[in-house]
Amino acid sequence: MLLRVHNLVKRYTEEAAVQSVSFDVNQGDYVAIIGPSGSGKTTLLSLLTGMLSPTEGDILYDNRRLSSLNQRELAEIRARDFGLVFQFSELVGNLSIRENILLPGLFTRKFSNAEYQRKCDYLLGHLKLESIQHMIPRELSGGQIQKTAIARALINEPSILLADEPSGDLDPENSYLVQLLLNEFNKKNLSIILVTHDMKLAFDAQTIYEMKSGKFDQVIKGK
Ligand SMILES: Nc1ncnc2c1ncn2[C@@H]1O[C@H](COP(=O)(O)OP(=O)(O)OP(=O)(O)O)[C@@H](O)[C@H]1O
Ligand SMILES: [Mg+2]
Repeated sequence: MLLRVHNLVKRYTEEAAVQSVSFDVNQGDYVAIIGPSGSGKTTLLSLLTGMLSPTEGDILYDNRRLSSLNQRELAEIRARDFGLVFQFSELVGNLSIRENILLPGLFTRKFSNAEYQRKCDYLLGHLKLESIQHMIPRELSGGQIQKTAIARALINEPSILLADEPSGDLDPENSYLVQLLLNEFNKKNLSIILVTHDMKLAFDAQTIYEMKSGKFDQVIKGK
């Protein structure tokens, strides 16, 4: 078991944004979470990254309780094993697109520099970002920023990708490029937890959960 989520609750106010959610993710699983705006999807993903602390319940990653790790241990797992794509991804403003994508490698050094350059070229090519790779974020469109954030999340070949609406700013053609890329990495054993309103992406998953008022209301597909 890669990730085990048990009775997770998050209360910002009296009402719980996440209410007793439990599910498991094995290495190579592809899970999609759909549901209306405000149902708790982003809150759930933030809890899974360890950036938000749960009010109740547990998250076990690789048999380690996220809430019992210290900041350094958590940062290490996040950098090495997690690929993160947020709803409003922030790139480093004074670095080029290429440099932004390569940045996670500078911290973890999981691969050699030559391998990082090769992986970066591959991702830039696949996502059709080559021609803008030397531009900086403020010169880009929302969709180009989103694709850059996806490439940055994949450069380290994480164990698990946690992605919040990764195609939210993309046209159908670019969504399709992202869809192909996610499937390709999933075949190479990347686990994916994807929050999306895009049913084309959701239906690639083995399991689709629907979130409603903080609860996993229904398993639409899968186990
Ligand atoms: N930092 C916060 N403080 C207080 N309440 C919050 C906070 N973040 C989210 N909420 C509340 O928690 C609930 C769930 O929000 P969340 O962002 O998780 O929804 P979502 O499913 O991701 O919605 P969307 O599809 O619009 O992105 C909402 O009612 C929201 O107002
Ligand atoms: Mg959200």
